[in-house]
Amino acid sequence: MNEIIFELSNISYSYIDGGKKRVILDDLSYKFERGKFYTILGPSGSGKSTLLAIACALDKPEKGIVKYEEEDIKNMGFTKFRRNKIAIVFQKYNLMDYLTGVENVESDMMIIDKKINGDKKQIAYKILEKVGIVKSKADRRVTNLSGGEQQRVAIARALATDVDLILGDEPTGALDTATEKEVIGLLKTLAHEYNKTIILVTHSDDVAQQSDVKLRLKNGKLFEDEN
Ligand SMILES: Nc1ncnc2c1ncn2[C@@H]1O[C@H](COP(=O)(O)OP(=O)(O)OP(=O)(O)O)[C@@H](O)[C@H]1O
Ligand SMILES: [Mg+2]
Repeated sequence: MNEIIFELSNISYSYIDGGKKRVILDDLSYKFERGKFYTILGPSGSGKSTLLAIACALDKPEKGIVKYEEEDIKNMGFTKFRRNKIAIVFQKYNLMDYLTGVENVESDMMIIDKKINGDKKQIAYKILEKVGIVKSKADRRVTNLSGGEQQRVAIARALATDVDLILGDEPTGALDTATEKEVIGLLKTLAHEYNKTIILVTHSDDVAQQSDVKLRLKNGKLFEDEN
């Protein structure tokens, strides 16, 4: 088995719905390995977004522990974990509309605790180039880029912070099939060539088919799908 980077251990979570408790995650455990591309499938309402919110410390589980490199993220500090260890890519690209692509990428380098040596802007251009955004596009306000290009900028932001764990909730949900394929291909490259761990929630079987491990959220637990 490869190195475990991220672990969900005995996670439970429920919502109070009309005065009644509804269990969404039920003693869920899973270990994610470094350098692998995971997808999570499951019907609408099964708790995928809830699970991601807990994984990226935007919400706290009722029970259970989230571990990054064997450390409980509660001990690490939730803010520190969010700022330095993970990147999140959403369906809505989560970019700052009034900035250019390169400014969006640069802005992420400002907030992390790690010191970046060299000219941040030049590094940002390089990262953008790596995901297929050339300088002339990087200098455009992001609202003047296509959906696929904006998602590439969002992925470049994730790379700018140089984190090893990238989480996504339907990041290609707004893209056409061909663009989706490109963006997923890019994420796959990041996993296999840059040793990043990618965990994507998706409704698309095509996307899931491209991942190394296909997971299904069912009855509050994660199951590996046969490929
Ligand atoms: N704040 C809340 N209070 C009560 N119930 C909630 C709350 N947030 C989510 N839920 C319910 O919890 C269940 C799981 O929601 P969640 O958003 O995690 O599902 P999902 O698997 O991401 O669905 P989708 O595929 O539609 O995005 C749903 O039935 C939802 O209505
Ligand atoms: Mg959801």
